[in-house]
Amino acid sequence: MLDKVKDIHQEIEQFDIKSPEQLEQFRMRFISRKGVITELFEGLKSVPQADRRTVGQELNGLKNFAQERFDMFNQLVEEQRTAASSAPPVDLTLPTIPNLTGTQHPLSLVRQRIIQIFERIGFNVADGPEIESDWYNFGALNFPDNHPARDMQDTFFVEKMTEGAPSDMLLRTHTSNVQIRLMERQKPPIRSIMPGRVYRNETISARAHCMFHQVEGIYIDRNVGFKDLKDTLYHFVKEMFEPGTQIRFRPSYFPFTEPSAEIDISCQICGGKGCNICKHSGWVEIAGSGMVDPQVIANCGIDPEEYTGFAFGMGIERITQLKYVVNDLRLYTENDVRFLRQFEGL
Ligand code: DAH
Repeated sequence: MLDKVKDIHQEIEQFDIKSPEQLEQFRMRFISRKGVITELFEGLKSVPQADRRTVGQELNGLKNFAQERFDMFNQLVEEQRTAASSAPPVDLTLPTIPNLTGTQHPLSLVRQRIIQIFERIGFNVADGPEIESDWYNFGALNFPDNHPARDMQDTFFVEKMTEGAPSDMLLRTHTSNVQIRLMERQKPPIRSIMPGRVYRNETISARAHCMFHQVEGIYIDRNVGFKDLKDTLYHFVKEMFEPGTQIRFRPSYFPFTEPSAEIDISCQICGGKGCNICKHSGWVEIAGSGMVDPQVIANCGIDPEEYTGFAFGMGIERITQLKYVVNDLRLYTENDVRFLRQFEGL
């Protein structure tokens, strides 16, 4: 009997009470009339007369101990309850904390704006593969076999795992591959823009990246002339940039267009006065363009005697740089929220 008293004493000491539920468990086990201590008192009858007094005293001590513990914990739990209820009440009339919805990436904003401008004048949006064969990226576009752009310096070639022979697969270096794919599978009139990602083997710096974005455009139909090219790009520049932006066509060369022109606009940063963005010339190149070379049209199975057309290709990073004064290409891929947050709500 005395051993039992000892055990229960120990149990009471070790009983951890942190919540009203635990307090109730404690009460049921040690205090209530169905608890273990009451049970022990009932067992007192069977203790030999000689020991009854001592055991009875022990039992009383145990009972008092349990009651003291209970009172102490009861007070603690009560204090916790009042502390919680005296916390400042919740003001239900306060406006809620707004949900942060994130921002659109500046390149997405500009891509969408470009698409919107061209869609309104009848261009649809087309897509093509980023992993491409030499033919679609170069050959069909009239790049001669020894053109330096095919060099390992500029192009990422993709190994074909199954064959030991040198691969003719590569990561496209421009979006012009989609021109070819469109002309191959569609009859004129073709009037499409083709946004996408392109890759070049460049060391990453503020001014160059191995991955960037272009939007290609093509318009093939009967009687499409250089004037249509100029009109279309004038319209684009007027819609995309600040009022008063100047535009100029500068004769240039691309293997897949003849004649070819590069398109410059007056620098959006300095307004044409000269700064380090425009290398103090007042002008910034935004696109390459030209009349699609008849040979390229023929390469795709379309009769160049019947159909003519123009094409252009522009860099989305460059246009974003001019629109939002982003002077380091690396910012676009670093995912720094301090950069991205600046485009909130645009
Ligand atoms: N593909 C050229 C480049 O990446 C840009 C370009 C120039 C595209 C002239 C065209 C074009 O469609 O006609 O630099």
